[in-house]
Amino acid sequence: MKKYPIEQGEDPAQQKRLDFASLSNKETQVKRLEFSEEQLSFALDAARMVFWDWNLQTGKASWSSNFVHLYGLDVDSQEKSYEAFLSTVHPEDRQLIEQDAQKSLQSKRDSSVEYRIILPDGKIRWIRSQYKFFYDEQGNPVKKTGIDIDITERKLAEIKIKDGLKEKEVLLQEIHHRVKNNLQVVSSLLDLQSMHIDSPTLLEVFRDFQNRVKAMAIVHQQLYESNNLSQINLAVYIRSLTENLFQVYSIVPAKVSLILDLDNVSLKIDAAISCGLIINELINNAIKHAFNESTQGVIKLSLTKDESKNITLIVGDNGIGLPENWELPNSHPLEFQLVNALVQQLEGTIEYNCYCGTKFCIRIPCD
Ligand SMILES: Nc1ncnc2c1ncn2[C@@H]1O[C@H](COP(=O)(O)OP(=O)(O)O)[C@@H](O)[C@H]1O
Ligand SMILES: [Mg+2]
Repeated sequence: MKKYPIEQGEDPAQQKRLDFASLSNKETQVKRLEFSEEQLSFALDAARMVFWDWNLQTGKASWSSNFVHLYGLDVDSQEKSYEAFLSTVHPEDRQLIEQDAQKSLQSKRDSSVEYRIILPDGKIRWIRSQYKFFYDEQGNPVKKTGIDIDITERKLAEIKIKDGLKEKEVLLQEIHHRVKNNLQVVSSLLDLQSMHIDSPTLLEVFRDFQNRVKAMAIVHQQLYESNNLSQINLAVYIRSLTENLFQVYSIVPAKVSLILDLDNVSLKIDAAISCGLIINELINNAIKHAFNESTQGVIKLSLTKDESKNITLIVGDNGIGLPENWELPNSHPLEFQLVNALVQQLEGTIEYNCYCGTKFCIRIPCD
């Protein structure tokens, strides 16, 4: 049963004020009180808000007249008690309310909790309850008072957004899976095609291309398997990448060993793919060119991130070193142009030295 303060007339508020003037003092006070109550009731209804108060010693409750309406309680037959309230709460959320109350009691702080109630027609309504306990002089809780508000619309919107996001994540994961599969098909096609090639030089070219395709496929595989669809853990990526290269060239540790020293660095997909392709070229070169038969080869790869979040990537080997007059930008046709282009794309720098084998140092700024 709702009470609204404005019932009739063009300006009922003015009307009521005029009425007050003609009443006795006591009657005026009663009327004013009734009027305030009506206003409060109107405001609470408009805000879909109720208030309540539980006497923890008697177990009795009092609540605003619109409480039964919000909670779908039977207006006449329900006694005002905590049990009557709890009977409306979704069974899965009852414990949550209890736990939150315990926490509030322990910390002696006001608290709020969100839960579902089930209306008589089976519909779910979401409630946010903000409450506080009051204590006697000995510090024992004597009553609990709160304000509840209907947050169903907000909750449903949140659930819709969450479901939509989840759906998009699943789709994105599926796309990464497909991209990885497609790249694998490209790699197999290159493999098939290479079976008809006799020239070792051409075969080498095919193998290099396969490795590049594989380097990109690993990124998509990693994204498909991870929970984070926008960032790649570079250390994990480098491990898979180098493992693949050592497998392709059937390298055994007795001949060439690989030492990895990798910080935990995460990069966006594009930057990770560029880094992967750079590493692929440099390790590929070390495996192919650095060592002669008698060398016990060592390839070292370190990845560090400094305080300003810049990344340093060092790829070194203890091999024969670069040919004399070797210069970075104009050296060999494709591969170093590719490395240079990728470094530039990352707005990084590349340096090298051949004091003891070959060492490339790449610095990449990160934001
Ligand atoms: N780590 C290395 N150790 C020794 N020589 C290297 C190394 N990396 C590159 N080179 C030399 O630089 C040349 C150019 O390399 P690159 O541009 O990658 O072409 P490719 O690998 O097809 O020969 C190689 O042929 C090789 O002589
Ligand atoms: Mg090369």
